[in-house]
This record gives sequence, structure tokens and C-alpha cells, in this order.
Amino acid sequence: MKELKILGIVAVFTLILYWGVEPFAHSQMHKHVEGDDFKYSDLKEVPKGDAAKGEALAAACVGCHSIKVKNMPAPMDALMSAQTYGVNPPDLSLAGKVLDEKFFAHFLLNPAEVTKSKHFAMPPSAGSIQDAADIVAYFKSIAPKEAKPKEVYEFACGRCHANRYDKWTQIGEVPKTKSNIKTGVDLDALEFKKNLGQYQNKLADYMGKLPPDLSIIIRARSEHFLETFVEDPQSQLPGTAMPRVGITKEGYEEVKQYLEETGDPSKPKREAVGPWVLLFFVIFTILAYLWKKSIWKGHH
Ligand code: HEC
Ligand code: HEC
Repeated sequence: MKELKILGIVAVFTLILYWGVEPFAHSQMHKHVEGDDFKYSDLKEVPKGDAAKGEALAAACVGCHSIKVKNMPAPMDALMSAQTYGVNPPDLSLAGKVLDEKFFAHFLLNPAEVTKSKHFAMPPSAGSIQDAADIVAYFKSIAPKEAKPKEVYEFACGRCHANRYDKWTQIGEVPKTKSNIKTGVDLDALEFKKNLGQYQNKLADYMGKLPPDLSIIIRARSEHFLETFVEDPQSQLPGTAMPRVGITKEGYEEVKQYLEETGDPSKPKREAVGPWVLLFFVIFTILAYLWKKSIWKGHH
């Protein structure tokens, strides 16, 4: 009887800690940020766009951006772009697929305000909301139906964030080069490092700090944090220089998949083991039960 009372008291205190104190402490340490499910509800609906009209207007974009699906190269390489703007403007092939339509249109009218960043190196690039909607319709019409998670990352995050585990840098993949047999020096690799260093210096000046490498962010931050942060960085870090990038929910899922593949590659394996462990317990329970029955058979 005494033992039961003690057990009861321990159970009650454990439950109070579990449901009361821990969540309370947690909510005090991290404020809870309510997500908006990538709906960008602060922005007004936009009119329907005309892709043909948008194509003519998009000619201005290639003054700074490449559009590889249309074989249009960027006017400058990544480093020169960073020396000019502070960062390399992304290739626009995937813009119509990855960005929220409403976000994209308002973004073209007023990049700094819509990304919620104090400064955004791109000037307003549409004359009216109708022009903006036409440009968006054009980019939707040229975007490929499918894109790999890595390509989505490259478009939405890769100009600012390296991913060491995947050999991704802000100026592209680390090239596979060989060192010179006679001298042991790899001039191409040195050249790449120098360019990367210069790019990162410009980027750090532009952003106020170098954006962190995202190799292991998937393990360092909770899913909820990542999702609400990418949707609106200001909600979690008021005053941060990271822009709201305006990706759709699907776009975010692709980015998350890439970060999982690079930062936590054993996750699918771990998850695959789960059902087998459960099956083991079920079989073990049945065997234990049968064994008990056979032992006790003679004693009744
Ligand atoms: C004067 C150069 C310039 C022109 C012209 C220009 N852009 Fe940009 N754009 C940039 C720069 C620089 C960035 C990156 C800024 C940053 O990340 O802070 C950018 C970023 C973007 C982004 C990424 C937005 C995000 O999600 O964060 C999109 C999409 C984009 N531009 C579309 C366009 C389109 C469409 C046009 C033409 C209608 C255009 N740009 C014209 C310089 C330019
Ligand atoms: C124009 C540059 C830029 C782009 C594009 C960008 N970021 Fe960032 N990001 C930053 C900067 C700068 C910081 C550092 C923020 C700070 O400390 O104030 C940052 C910080 C982060 C952090 C760390 C937050 C923390 O405190 O742990 C995560 C996670 C992140 N970014 C994810 C992303 C993802 C995912 C994308 C693409 C969907 C992306 N970022 C696109 C500039 C960028």
C-alpha cells in the first residue's frame, strides 16, 4: 500500500513537470511563432497575367540575371556581380515554379519592402501591378515542371548560403581538380578559393555578416523554426538581414529535403528500421506469452 502511494506521488509530479513546467519554460525561452503556411496573407491578390506581354518586359531582367532555360547568359560572373551588387542575382529559370505568384508580383514592384529587408540590391523592376503579373505569367510559362531539391536550394538560398557537406559554395560547386604532379600546387583550386573568398567578403559587407553554412542546420534547428524562419525571417530574428525569399510551400519542402539529404543522410535508413523493431517486439511478446503458458501448464 505504501509503495503504491509513493508511486502515485512520483507519477503526479512527473506529469506536472512534463505537461506544465517544461512547456512553460520552453515557451518563455523561445517565443512561439505562428506560421502562415506560405500564404503571404499580408499581400493583396494580383490580376491575371499575360505571358506574351511578360516576355517583352522580362528582357530587362537579363541585364543582371541569367535565364538558362532560354539560353540567356548572365552579363557578369558571380564574383563580378557580387562586386557590383553585393550578391550574385540568381538564375531565373525556376522563379515561376518556386516563388509564390502573389509574392513574386509584389516583389517586382517593391523588392526591399516585400522581402522585408532594409536594403535589397535589386531596383523595382515593373511599372505596374499588371506588368508585374504579366512578367510572373511569363516565368511560370517557361519554368520546367520538375526540379531537383538541390536546384531549388541553389535558386532560393545558394547565392548566400554554402553547404560544405555537398561541396556547394555561393559561387557554385567546388571544382574537382588535380594538383600539378611536379609542384604539388593546384592553381585552379587556388584560383577558385581566391574568388570564393572575395565573393564572401562582398557578401558579408552587403549582409552585415557572412550567412551561415547550412550543412547541419537541419539537426541544429527544429522543423518548426526552419519553416517559420524561411517563411518570414523577421518573425524569428527581428532586424535580420536575411530577406523573405517568397517560396511556396512545395518549394520549401524541396529545400528541406535537400537539407535533410546533405545534413542527415542516415534518416531514411533510421526510419526504415522502425517497423522492423516493432515487428520484433510483437514476435517477442507472442513467444514470451507462449513460453509462460507452457511453463505454468503443469502447475494448475
Ligand atoms: C540591376 C540588376 C537587376 C535587375 C535589372 C533585375 N534584378 Fe532581380 N535581382 C537582382 C539582385 C542583385 C538580386 C539579389 C538581391 C539579394 O539577394 O539581396 C535579385 C534577386 C531577384 C530574385 C530573387 C528574389 C527572392 O526570392 O529572394 C528574383 C526572383 C528576381 N531578382 C527577379 C527579377 C526579374 C523577374 C527581373 C526583371 C523584371 C529582375 N529581377 C531584374 C538584380 C536585378
Ligand atoms: C540574400 C541572402 C540570403 C538568402 C537568399 C537566404 N539567406 Fe538565410 N541567412 C542570410 C543571413 C544574412 C543570415 C544570418 C541572419 C542573422 O544572423 O541575422 C541567414 C541565416 C539563415 C539561417 C540561420 C538562422 C538561425 O539563427 O539559426 C537559416 C536556417 C537560413 N538562413 C536559411 C535559409 C534558407 C533555407 C534559404 C533559402 C530558402 C535562405 N536562408 C536564403 C541570408 C540569406
